[in-house]
Amino acid sequence: MPQELHDYIVGQTRFDDPILAEMEARAKEHGFPIIGDAVGPWLYFYTRLMNASQVFEMGSGYGYSTWFFAKAVKENGGGTVTHTVWDEDLSREARGYLERAGLADQCDFQVSEAVLALSGAAKGIDIIFCDIDKEMYPGALDVVESKLRPGGLFIIDNLLWDGKVMSPTADGDEATAGVKEITRMLRESERWDFLLLPLRDGVGCARFRG
Ligand SMILES: C[S@@+](CC[C@H](N)C(=O)[O-])C[C@H]1O[C@@H](n2cnc3c(N)ncnc32)[C@H](O)[C@@H]1O
Repeated sequence: MPQELHDYIVGQTRFDDPILAEMEARAKEHGFPIIGDAVGPWLYFYTRLMNASQVFEMGSGYGYSTWFFAKAVKENGGGTVTHTVWDEDLSREARGYLERAGLADQCDFQVSEAVLALSGAAKGIDIIFCDIDKEMYPGALDVVESKLRPGGLFIIDNLLWDGKVMSPTADGDEATAGVKEITRMLRESERWDFLLLPLRDGVGCARFRG
């Protein structure tokens, strides 16, 4: 999409927050892969729409995506957004940003491999967001199904994987294979209603039938 069109679209949903701006600048400076300013507002919107109080994030980095969930959960009346990342420094950094944003009370920061952390979580989660290493996507689905409430939402980032999902030559690439496999699993399973949104790098949106 042309940058001007992107800017126009993003400009219609305003989150004028200085901490968020700092986090965006940090991503730009260090080339850190955050969901970005097109997907973030969408996460906020759906969390509000579902009136979610329990959100579990897998692969949370320094907390950019967490900001949108935590803001929505706070405005829904409170709850918990579980932030998981296996890197202690990133977890500490996330806590710093979210404390300064006044959103840390909604967050549970866990330094852990994300699928492992989810397997130890209580059942009945409203939304699970998956942004871990792509080759790990298929292996996460069993645990997601055991923790999400019926009617809950499973959101998966990067399902277009920069267009590589279309390439027949990507077969030896484990990340691309992981993205293609979870897409197939969700599409074919009777337990899910599945939609692939053409937003940024492709956002999978799956409603759990139970
Ligand atoms: C793509 S970044 C996204 C960050 C965040 N979702 C955002 O948009 O702001 C994913 C982060 O999760 C970490 N990560 C990847 N796989 C993980 C796993 N299985 N368990 C815990 N952390 C993981 C990566 O090292 C990285 O810091």
